[in-house]
Amino acid sequence: MITIKKPAELDAMRIVAKKTATILHKVASKVAPGVTTKELDDYAAELAQKAEGRCAFYGYHGFSGHICSSVNEEVVHGIPGRRVLNDGDIVSIDFGLVFGGFVGDTAITVAAGTIDPEWQLLLDKTQECLMAAIGQAVEGNRLSDISNAVQVVADAAGYGVVRDFVGHGIGRELHEDPQIPNYGPPGRGPVLKAGMTFAIEPMINLGVHKTETLSDGWTVVTKDRLPSAHFEHTIAVGKEKAEILTIPDVA
Ligand code: MF3
Ligand code: CO
Ligand code: CO
Repeated sequence: MITIKKPAELDAMRIVAKKTATILHKVASKVAPGVTTKELDDYAAELAQKAEGRCAFYGYHGFSGHICSSVNEEVVHGIPGRRVLNDGDIVSIDFGLVFGGFVGDTAITVAAGTIDPEWQLLLDKTQECLMAAIGQAVEGNRLSDISNAVQVVADAAGYGVVRDFVGHGIGRELHEDPQIPNYGPPGRGPVLKAGMTFAIEPMINLGVHKTETLSDGWTVVTKDRLPSAHFEHTIAVGKEKAEILTIPDVA
């Protein structure tokens, strides 16, 4: 069942989402050659504590990180650890926070040092996929209009759209109904209503769409080991346009 948030619930979502995005933004600003993913994780944990929130991923199905940090060919669910970021790496950072009974969820992919222009284009296009998808999160549209918008942008660029992982409804729980694939024909699925809240999260590969999970049981990598990018916003469906809730406070 897709829930429609009441105005007071939407206000609570706005608050947690802004905190979530602000923490992600601060963590991402630490990305540089020589930094370990554990250092990013520690910083996220510290900022979450200062914000009096709880990290949504920590302990989720046994996940050991406060963020997911996925480097280069890693698509999602990378576990923070001793890995040192090198000049030319990209790292996707995904962060979820619980505060006031609601959850925020947002991700970005950033460069460590100077990256290959082909990789930069992958980042730019993945962000474009996300914004195109958000543009469809309007009352009266159908759920798969969001999915299709991602696929159209990614296909035009010749990239692989990850199918094994999807976006999702979000609210009191991190993962609520519906599942939101990043591919498929438009005009299918439930009709969108203002007040539905979604985490939209395209995962786009430079090469093939296929993925596999490493023996740690978490880290998802591209089958061809080419790089992958991931951008995610928590949004509220609106009557005229979607409201992006995970906008950081940049003071
Ligand atoms: N990547 C997921 C999302 O954005 C959440 C990760 S759950 C974890 O919905 F346990 F892997 F952290
Ligand atoms: Co996320
Ligand atoms: Co998510």
